[in-house]
Amino acid sequence: MAKINDNYLKLKAGYLFPEIARRVNAFAQANPDAQIIKLGIGDVTEPLPEACCTAMMKAVQDMGDRATFKGYGPEQGYSWLREKIAASDFQARGCDINAEEIFISDGSKCDTGNILDIFGHDNAIAITDPVYPVYLDTNVMAGNTGPGNDAGKYEGVRYLPITADNNFTAEIPSEKVDLIYLCFPNNPTGATATKSDLKAWVDYANANGSIIFFDAAYEAFITDSDLPHSIYEIDGAKSCAIEFRSFSKNAGFTGTRCALTVVPKTLTAKAADGSDVELWKLWNRRHCTKFNGVSYIVQRGAEAVYTEAGQAQTKALVSFYLENAKIICAKLTAAGLKVYGGVNAPYVWVQTPAGLSSWDFFDKLLHNCNVVGTPGSGFGAAGEGYFRISAFNSRENVEEATQRITEKFKV
Ligand code: MLT
Repeated sequence: MAKINDNYLKLKAGYLFPEIARRVNAFAQANPDAQIIKLGIGDVTEPLPEACCTAMMKAVQDMGDRATFKGYGPEQGYSWLREKIAASDFQARGCDINAEEIFISDGSKCDTGNILDIFGHDNAIAITDPVYPVYLDTNVMAGNTGPGNDAGKYEGVRYLPITADNNFTAEIPSEKVDLIYLCFPNNPTGATATKSDLKAWVDYANANGSIIFFDAAYEAFITDSDLPHSIYEIDGAKSCAIEFRSFSKNAGFTGTRCALTVVPKTLTAKAADGSDVELWKLWNRRHCTKFNGVSYIVQRGAEAVYTEAGQAQTKALVSFYLENAKIICAKLTAAGLKVYGGVNAPYVWVQTPAGLSSWDFFDKLLHNCNVVGTPGSGFGAAGEGYFRISAFNSRENVEEATQRITEKFKV
């Protein structure tokens, strides 16, 4: 008789965003005239940059011509894209990262989950609370945790609370942990990390032989010139950190799919016999075995981000969403709500009013304002009492949604 992976039975509700979609669909069916505005999942709404579209259309023509047709590409990605990323995203910021250390993939969500393939099951894992749910759920699926309780906390996970009390900055654990997930600018709180914040993590990781998984999917939203965009801007990070990046949020590729993971060749972790093993080799082996590369057409689209026009157009897209975030912060603050984030990040983290729980606020917003957000408790127990509003939408919808919230919740 075939057996399942019993770890899946430890998972709590469905994955957060499909669960929200299920509730919203039920409401929409019961209220067909409701004009629902979705500021829940961080999914982009504005069209792709013209430079990316033009490059992809040209790539389609390449594929239709015997002389330029491409079959399987390199699993790690075409060197013309990896070299541009290395030069523009890393070397231009003083990070000593080369093209070979960059692996092109179809998403940071996938990579932050898949990375666990190359690590053992007896690592002590640290995640922030609240956190992007993929980090936790993939550890549960891999059997790296014990059972979960009703609040969604799993045995064997070191939770690092991030709340207004600690300015959404996790305290470095006093004990030793092996794998640490950090995300800056932060999803869901919109908080940022300074160079000295990251230096403390890098020093801790190097002192303890830990590996940091640094999710920089939202780095393009940093406007403050003092804030680091990459963990490799910090001395010592090349011996303790893997970085994840994505074209989803800066260039609108959520439906197009292209991302990258950086695994420096200097990074090692221990084998069972105590020897040091290069993580690059393991990830390369995993990537070549389980992945056949992102399509040529999409990689040409991603490459266009690094042209002069592509840079200007992605910058404009990011500025547009940041302006939305500014409007959300201003309107909700004026209504008497306490808000965080939304400055160097596309997410606004709102304290729920009048002691409402996160899901109560979700229901009230849906039923009274026909606006969808994400309940903070869906990101972890310490997210209870908070609510995430995404700035990814049209200006019209953001104006309308904030107006409706203001009318109903003005304190
Ligand atoms: C979010 O809303 O947290 C993100 O859109 C999720 C993702 O990027 O997978």
